[in-house]
Amino acid sequence: MIELNNITNNKIAFIGAGVVGLTTAAFFASKGIYTIITDKNYSRLELIKNGKIPFYEPKLDQLVNVGLNNGTLVVEYDTTKAIQSSDIVFITVGTPPFEDGSIDLTYIKEATTTIAYSIRSYPAYKLIIIKSTVVPTTTSKIIKPIIDNILNDEGYEDKYPAILVNPEFLREGSAVHDTINPHIIVIGSNNGEGANILDKLYRQIYGNNIPIIHTTWENAELIKYANNSFLATKISFINTIANICSRINNADIDTIANAIGLDPRIGSLFLKAGPGYGGSCLPKDVKALIKFAESIGYKPRLLISVDETNEYQSLEVVNLAEKAVSSLEGKVISILGLSFKKDTDDIRNSVSLKVIDHLLRNNACVKVHDPKSIEHVKAIFGNKIEYHTNVISCLTGADCCIIMVDWDEYKLLTNKDFNVMKDKNVIDVWRILDINKLTDIKYIALGRSNINKNDSI
Ligand code: NAD
Ligand code: UGA
Repeated sequence: MIELNNITNNKIAFIGAGVVGLTTAAFFASKGIYTIITDKNYSRLELIKNGKIPFYEPKLDQLVNVGLNNGTLVVEYDTTKAIQSSDIVFITVGTPPFEDGSIDLTYIKEATTTIAYSIRSYPAYKLIIIKSTVVPTTTSKIIKPIIDNILNDEGYEDKYPAILVNPEFLREGSAVHDTINPHIIVIGSNNGEGANILDKLYRQIYGNNIPIIHTTWENAELIKYANNSFLATKISFINTIANICSRINNADIDTIANAIGLDPRIGSLFLKAGPGYGGSCLPKDVKALIKFAESIGYKPRLLISVDETNEYQSLEVVNLAEKAVSSLEGKVISILGLSFKKDTDDIRNSVSLKVIDHLLRNNACVKVHDPKSIEHVKAIFGNKIEYHTNVISCLTGADCCIIMVDWDEYKLLTNKDFNVMKDKNVIDVWRILDINKLTDIKYIALGRSNINKNDSI
């Protein structure tokens, strides 16, 4: 029975120990809630059980260890047992893309099936909360029918679970901060009671200052896609303006972004021009929404253009390098930064990988450095590129270096550091270097007047 007066007395399970599942579970556990984390990847669970994090996410190890030490965070290898021991079950499995960009719901279906069979063999009322990102109508057309089919032949009336859609808005690299300080909580439901229980849980955790939006399943699903697609749109927009800046004299994208960002109707965030958005979510979610819209008979022209603009942007970076060294053939190019953004070791859809791929196709010799993700990249490029754990050795002998990620340590690079290069062409994709302190290099910044305006790329 779910206890409403002190909701924190309930047991909560998380299926899927990725960034979302583990961070949320660890935060709930740090609040004194008995929280069970389960995953089908046992080596992931083994690490967590030993207080280690299977990926790099700042401050998450501290949060996990608080829960482990208090005994409020419990690692469970048997997913059925985790579900049967809990009143509230969060689904936090991955929803990766198929080759064509549409959403692959395999893990969602698996987790839902396991939950339904767990209830069937041990009936008890539960909340099932879909925190994974799922395209609109997934809950009504896929998740609920799976549960209905498995629970259809018994009298489960008062044991039938409440199904809720509760999308997540945290960012990798600041997952702990974002989980502790959400800007919004969205609860989609078709049943008032379950939504009220979840509302109470969140109110007890977060107090009354966070807006909680109660809505339908479909709105909750689409809010998540609209949110990520809008962020992606801002980035593709500013990258478009940056590429115009690069082709005219005396233009600087950051001055323009700062100015338009002061218009409260536009806002200053997500207007940093760069190599295009990467990561496990913005690219996949924009593509999945495009595919979903097409599947219901609508061609979302704006989103298609946002995606195409983003796919192109890595070439803009490669063209800056090519321009600097005349021909890429045989040239040594150092790539600083491999993860999809700083403060994470996640290389899913990292633009650096696309740039490396283009460089290799043009027969350049590629050397790479990253503070956290070298090992992941080795698994992709093997001996086709050179790996360095030290920035200076990565720069040594290079004809050109491209700063792909704004890791803090790259911001501190000085004239002396670049002296080890053969030819000091430095491409600053995020414009992080202080050019007033760099006198002796050929400095090229994305979004500042570098490319001949007659170029057509
Ligand atoms: P992830 O891929 O890092 O981790 C998912 C975990 O689920 C994996 O460890 C996998 O082994 C496990 N899993 C898959 N199927 C399972 C099953 N049937 N039973 C038990 N475990 C199973 O995922 P993530 O990055 O944490 O993202 C999870 C979801 O949240 C996705 O839908 C994503 O789009 C969404 N999301 C992610 C972020 C983010 O920053 N990563 C932010 C907001 C929303
Ligand atoms: C993004 C969203 O910001 C989160 O709200 C959302 O929960 C998450 O996706 C998700 O659904 O998984 P994340 O991908 O972790 O979070 O990281 P972001 O900070 O959004 O960066 C995404 C990409 O956009 C990175 O490649 C980053 O370099 C790029 N970016 C970001 C820009 O090019 N310019 C900007 O101004 C901001």
